[in-house]
Amino acid sequence: MMYDLIIKNGTILTSQKIFKSEIAVKNEKIVEIAKKIQGSAKEVIDASGLYVMPGGIDVHVHFENVFSGYTIADDFESGSISAAAGGVTTFIDFANQDPKTGLLGGVKQRIAQAAKKSCVDFSVHATITDWSLKTKKQMQACIDFGVPSFKMFTIYEERGLKSEDHEIFQALEESKKKGALIMIHAESEKVMNHLIEKYSKDMKKFGAYAHALSRPNYIEAEAVSRMIKWAEVTKGNLYIVHMSTGEASDLIKNAKSKGLNVDAETSPIYLTLTDDLFKKENGHFYATCPQLKKKKDCTRLWQGLKAEIEIISTDTCPFSIKDKNKWKGDFRKIAYGLPGVETMIPILYTEGVLKEKVSLKRFVSLVSENPAKKFGLYPKKGCIEVGADADFTIFHPTKKKLVKAKNLKSKCDFSPFEGKKLAAFPEYTILRGRTIYQNEQCFASKGSGKLLRRKLLIKR
Ligand code: URP
Ligand code: ZN
Ligand code: ZN
Repeated sequence: MMYDLIIKNGTILTSQKIFKSEIAVKNEKIVEIAKKIQGSAKEVIDASGLYVMPGGIDVHVHFENVFSGYTIADDFESGSISAAAGGVTTFIDFANQDPKTGLLGGVKQRIAQAAKKSCVDFSVHATITDWSLKTKKQMQACIDFGVPSFKMFTIYEERGLKSEDHEIFQALEESKKKGALIMIHAESEKVMNHLIEKYSKDMKKFGAYAHALSRPNYIEAEAVSRMIKWAEVTKGNLYIVHMSTGEASDLIKNAKSKGLNVDAETSPIYLTLTDDLFKKENGHFYATCPQLKKKKDCTRLWQGLKAEIEIISTDTCPFSIKDKNKWKGDFRKIAYGLPGVETMIPILYTEGVLKEKVSLKRFVSLVSENPAKKFGLYPKKGCIEVGADADFTIFHPTKKKLVKAKNLKSKCDFSPFEGKKLAAFPEYTILRGRTIYQNEQCFASKGSGKLLRRKLLIKR
């Protein structure tokens, strides 16, 4: 038999077992997993001393967009190359509801934009910003098109993004009927705005730290608790994005123990960084929403990764230092957002697996298998099984690389992990059987990433 690729001598990591085996790939798929593959291949990778795991999946990124007048530093090309450089072979971005063509129109436009440039596979979530009877109907059109996940915000009224509670409630009702997923950015807007107003009266005193002071933990916890209540009574499918607090983790744990369809993601920044950083001279570089919290939150979130928190994503939303510096001392005007997709796997592995906070198997679940299952990509993505897409990240178990923004593939000139030494950067990133990243070089051509049409595995 002639294969396209054989990976030999590696240690295969899955959520269920860790084992030595060979993998054969043909026509973009895994076709055999065996102790010894009989036959030859156009390409053979010797993975001696290396781990082979399913390609990473980041279900929360923002590339090629403008937020509050600031342009995101990565377009779909550099963003997807940065994903590949971090062992991520699939990302999900967001499509804004289009005022004229609606939810599906927005989805199609965004997909066309990504398809021209992405070097890895991709999908989008549909962002609902204008709830109406029409929007409700358009949800079905998106689901039929392969976009069954919808994002809504409880904040950002001034940017025209906010949904009111009764609108989120109806979207959750629809999610139950249609088997869709409602993703919520949960912060408590009215109290938060009151605090922002309060701290804006003494900008000089607090500097960028006012961003943290104006968003205490209860701002997230109250909104998450309210969303869980709506999910409980509607029996809808709720997913909290970028969860940052210990309190919210407790709420998710409790909701799950009651059997509610509630899930949450957290991100490497909330697991490893704290709001003391806002007191540094470049503190405003670290501003994102929700903002970094306290050490006790990091500790609680790590604990949550063993049980109720089943997905790691990054909310990648990178801005240049030039744009970050435009705040001029007014914390309300900072370009909120951070880079992250390139360091997601290395941070979780180095800070989690190597420090024994999460097991190797759980790590695979968190960055690949669970996101694939939750967002309707499994078993095409997120596993090493015969028939799955041949997507892998292959990395050395202990070899570390020094993080310097200028050496990362993201065009962002700042990394919140600058100066850290991290393991699990890929020796090879393989997408559908092709090596797309090796030795700091991307080999995928612009636009070679494929659109993934998704179908959720939700019981109705
Ligand atoms: O502040 C951030 N993270 N901006 C990205 C948009 C969002 O809220 O997810
Ligand atoms: Zn958000
Ligand atoms: Zn986001």
